[in-house]
Formats: sequence, C-alpha cells, structure tokens
Amino acid sequence: MSRDSIRLRNLLLRLSKGYLALEKAMMSECCKLNASSAYILEALGRLGTTTPGELAEELGLAPSTVTRQLDAVAAEGLIERSSKETDRRVQQLSLTSAGRQMLSTLQTGSQEVTERLIRRIPGGATPRVFDALSLLVRAVAEELGTELEGSIVDEKTVRDKVKEKYSRLATSAGGCCCQSQPAECTSKGPISSDLYSEEEAEALPTEALNISLGCGNPTALARLKEGEHVLDLGCGGGIDVLLAARKVGPSGRVIGLDMTDEMLDLARSNAKKAGLSNVEFKKGLMESIPLADNSVDVIISNCVINLSTDKKQVLNEAFRVLRPGGRFNVSDVVHSGDMPQALRENLDLWAGCVAGSLSAEEYVELLKEAGFTDVAVIPTRVYGADAVSCCSEHLLPLSPEDIKALDGKFFAAFIEARKPE
Ligand SMILES: C[S@@+](CC[C@H](N)C(=O)[O-])C[C@H]1O[C@@H](n2cnc3c(N)ncnc32)[C@H](O)[C@@H]1O
Repeated sequence: MSRDSIRLRNLLLRLSKGYLALEKAMMSECCKLNASSAYILEALGRLGTTTPGELAEELGLAPSTVTRQLDAVAAEGLIERSSKETDRRVQQLSLTSAGRQMLSTLQTGSQEVTERLIRRIPGGATPRVFDALSLLVRAVAEELGTELEGSIVDEKTVRDKVKEKYSRLATSAGGCCCQSQPAECTSKGPISSDLYSEEEAEALPTEALNISLGCGNPTALARLKEGEHVLDLGCGGGIDVLLAARKVGPSGRVIGLDMTDEMLDLARSNAKKAGLSNVEFKKGLMESIPLADNSVDVIISNCVINLSTDKKQVLNEAFRVLRPGGRFNVSDVVHSGDMPQALRENLDLWAGCVAGSLSAEEYVELLKEAGFTDVAVIPTRVYGADAVSCCSEHLLPLSPEDIKALDGKFFAAFIEARKPE
C-alpha cells in the first residue's frame, strides 16, 4: 500500500468513526436516546405513517430487530401503533406529538454539531473544503457502486454562495460571470464580454454597462413591442431592464426582479441615471415570483436560470405569471452531453454560471413540462475551455485532458417558448 493510500484510509476511518461517535454523544446529551431509537424516529419522520415491514426495509434491518427497537420507543411514548383501516391485521406506526418534538430536538442538535465542526475548520467552510469533501464522497460512492444520499450542492449552500458572489460584485461593480475573485479578471472574460452593440452601449449609463454579467442580449432577440409588460428574472444592475424599457416605450412597463439588495440598489440608481420612469425593481426569488398569474407579456432573463437549484420551479413560475400567448425569451448558459460530476459540485463554477447549466435537451423538456409550446434553444456563442478554467484553481481534480474536453461543451443560447393562448 502506498503512503497516500494508507493516509487516505486512516483519514476516512477516523472521519466516519468520529462523526458517528459525535452523533451518538449528541443524542444521549440532548435526548437521552440511543442511536437505534433515533434512527427509527428519523425514518418515521421521513416515511410518515408506515408499517413495521416498510420501516425495516427503509432501515435495512431484519424485522425482528426493528420490532425490539419499536417496543423501546413505544415504551417512551414516542410512537403509537394502530391497525390499518383497510386491513385490521396490518399494524401501522406513526410518531406521537412527543415523538415529533423529540425528532425536531434531534434535528436541531444535529445541525448544531455540524455547525460546531464547521467553526473548527481553519478559514471556515470555504468552497474548496466542500469541493474536496464532495470529491471524496463521490469516490466512496463509486467504489460502493451506489449513490450516497444528500448532495453538497444543496439549495441553501448554492443560494448562499450565489448571493454572496453577486452582492459582492454589486458593491465592487465589475467582473464577469465566471470569476472567483474580482481581481482575477481584468476584462469581462469569455462569458460576459462584448454582448451589446456600440449603439446600445452608448445609450446606457457606464455603471450599468460595467456591471453587465449576462451571457447574451435577450432584448435584441425578443422582438419587444410598444406597450408590452416585461419581466426580467435576475435583473442584476438592470442593463436589460433599461434596454427593454426603451423598446416598450412609455406605454409599456418593465419589472426587474432580483434577490440581492445590493444589485437592486444599483439597478434603481442606473434607471434614475438613464431617466427612465417605466421601470420598477422588486426583491424576490425567481422560484416564487412575487407577481400575479397572467400578468406579463414577455419574460426576459440573462444568465440567471442556470444559477437555480430548482429550475423546474422557475419555469413553472414563469409560465404562471405570463399571460396566455406570452413569450419566454431568455439568454442562458447551456451544455451539451453529460457534465462531469466534479464540475457539477463545484460551487465557484455554479455561481460562475457554468456548473448549474442545463443541457439543451433538459431545457426543452422542462419548458414543455411547464406547459410551454414553440420551444427552441438557439446557440449564440460557444465557449472554449477557458470559460471554465477562469476558475482553474478549483479544477485540480480534472486532468489536463478532462479540461481540454470541455472545449465547446458549454454555450450561450437564446431560449424561446410561448404560453399557449
Ligand atoms: C449572472 S448575474 C446576471 C445579472 C443580469 N441579468 C445581467 O445580465 O447583468 C445573476 C443575477 O441573478 C440574481 N439571482 C440569482 N439567483 C436568483 C434567484 N433565485 N432569484 C432572483 N435573483 C437571482 C443575482 O443576484 C444576480 O444579480
């Protein structure tokens, strides 16, 4: 065995033993529970009302072992047993209110233990720590030939990372979509450079152009008409809101939606500088758009939907707020083929508009599922591997050949679809 493999094996062993011991200590400290009882409560919390057989299957244990443990938690008043209405011979299990209360204490305790661990990591839980751990988890899962539950790319972690990045960029005003540190990119990089014509640029406040972080020019392709009501998902510093507002004129209206206060402040200040009054900016999430059903004619967006961990929900929401016959006219990063898992789980690349991208086929499928028709994904710019290696220090697990294979894999596209009349 090489030195590296011995070190890795010892680390993995200590890590798994250590975490289990910590959890055990936490359970007996917070809830006076043994681990088996806690696993039963957690499984019942997940399954809801269930039978002993289903519970045994969920836990991967023999039914006789589960029956003994069930007796113990029932004696504590944490679960109740009843008969199934449709078949009185079948026993049903569910949590009592004391059981639910205990489960919630357990979950809070678990979170506290994890947060204590994070505080012990020098420098905190940086994306590199998550990247390294996620690769380790993936390697173990591959060896086991199974998927390990839970992903490091969970909704909260990704949203916090995206928020942190775009709030920071709004206050440092400048950058490109794929950028780990503001100082690293002197120009806008391969994704966000040269998106707008000279004529468009001249009509915009410099501050709006400087904070342009898109990957396309949706208003140039959206065929906007006078009087239309437009919604821009993830408007950032407002560049496309301003361009759209000129196209729809004083009888039209453009709403910019963004989740970060810093971007919204910038967008409002840019709209003021541009002297536009037919615009409005709202704080909110594109996963739950704060607008009424059937209230806008066109949805635009520029390099934002890829940032969501719940794109199905975003597209359902887009469909809901569009009026019948309304248009979905969005620029976004898309990829072809499969995405290497090491990229998918890289938080910097997710916030950099690459790792969260859908494949063109997935985009079409999700739009159709939401109810859209006339769906098309039209490539507008194909990226070289440099669009990804802008964050190269985080790509260490990929070999130079892997990185080269990314050439042409990611592209910007104009995505159009229509809500049926
Ligand atoms: C890559 S920037 C693009 C900004 C702008 N569209 C442009 O072209 O310059 C992404 C923007 O989307 C916002 N954003 C990201 N996720 C969001 C979400 N789930 N809901 C609303 N806004 C979001 C960010 O705050 C950021 O301003």
